[in-house]
Amino acid sequence: MYKSVIIGVGGGRAHGHADAYQYVKRGRVVAVCDLLQEPLDDFGDKFDINARYTDYREMFEQEKPELVQVSTPPNVRLGVLEAAEAAGVPLAIVEKPLAIQGEDYVQLRDFAARKPKIKVAINHQLQFHPRRQRLQQLVADGAIGDLRFVEASSGMNLAYQGTHSLQAIGAFNPAAPTTVFGQVSGADGLQPNVKAHYAPDQSLAAVEYDNGVQATLRCGENAPRVPRGDAIYQHKRIAVYGMKGYIHWTMWGWETFIDNVYESGEHEYPDEDVLGQAAMCEAMFDWLEDDRKAHPLNLERALVDFNVILALYASSLNHEVVEIPYEPEANLVPKLREALA
Ligand SMILES: NC(=O)c1ccc[n+]([C@@H]2O[C@H](COP(=O)([O-])OP(=O)(O)OC[C@H]3O[C@@H](n4cnc5c(N)ncnc54)[C@H](O)[C@@H]3O)[C@@H](O)[C@H]2O)c1
Repeated sequence: MYKSVIIGVGGGRAHGHADAYQYVKRGRVVAVCDLLQEPLDDFGDKFDINARYTDYREMFEQEKPELVQVSTPPNVRLGVLEAAEAAGVPLAIVEKPLAIQGEDYVQLRDFAARKPKIKVAINHQLQFHPRRQRLQQLVADGAIGDLRFVEASSGMNLAYQGTHSLQAIGAFNPAAPTTVFGQVSGADGLQPNVKAHYAPDQSLAAVEYDNGVQATLRCGENAPRVPRGDAIYQHKRIAVYGMKGYIHWTMWGWETFIDNVYESGEHEYPDEDVLGQAAMCEAMFDWLEDDRKAHPLNLERALVDFNVILALYASSLNHEVVEIPYEPEANLVPKLREALA
């Protein structure tokens, strides 16, 4: 049985990580860490985990885990990865968003470029939802024909949810982005906040890929709403159009139109999510056991996606089409804050 540990257990997401272990066959959570003792104890009591730490370095040394799951705000990423690698931890799952702006992105890109021993994936677990897997397989098998257009959105902004929807585009269209043209507005989400998530309130990006597919990504107040969606976080969705039909996935349902046959149905997001999170962990263990089984949500792919977001910010600030790869200019978030105030 592989040993997993979770860092940052005071928020909601860590519960999703721990819940998934009811379905993880090859691992178990042996220890947890948080800077704050109260959430640490509440979480440890709830999930019956007695090894509790306020310092993740100490946890790595004592517990010698195979997998660390990082569920902290996005300003805590690189330090954990460096410490985990130094302690010999072979696997890390880092919560989305990977980064916030150019400076932290470049640091993580430099970390990836030196080919660290630790294998890192970003927690866009929707990739592994059973429904998403079936739809992704349909499209990969050519059921809707050659792809033409992808349209994805999320009810929350780019820092909170946009990377899930951007990753979904890549899941259905695994091609390299080449250009980004976009617009953003609204500075509320760029103000100081405890979760350290900074992004404009709404955004729209037109992305071109090297296989000729075009995609749009809408995140925030301007995103379409999902039937049955209630709270703001329940409005993630993606539609993929090909020469023979389309598929549409939302947090609560799905549609396919293939060869003139229309089908649709519903699913329960929490049921999908716990299974998706578990499969995300199992795929990490596959990667540990076999270097050839690289995790589909690996750091290098996530860096390409995040470059699209940085290019969107530059496009909207400078009013131009931005080519990918984009070398980020300094201080994108302060510049957006000033421009959108
Ligand atoms: N994948 C998903 O579906 C999903 C869903 C919700 C949230 N998230 C992401 O999960 C991350 C966590 O969000 P949240 O709202 O669950 O949690 P949160 O931001 O409310 O809490 C994070 C916890 O991390 C702890 N922490 C901060 N720095 C730490 C450090 N250096 N060492 C140890 N603990 C530390 C804090 O004390 C806090 O208890 C965010 O990046 C968020 O975007 C992902």
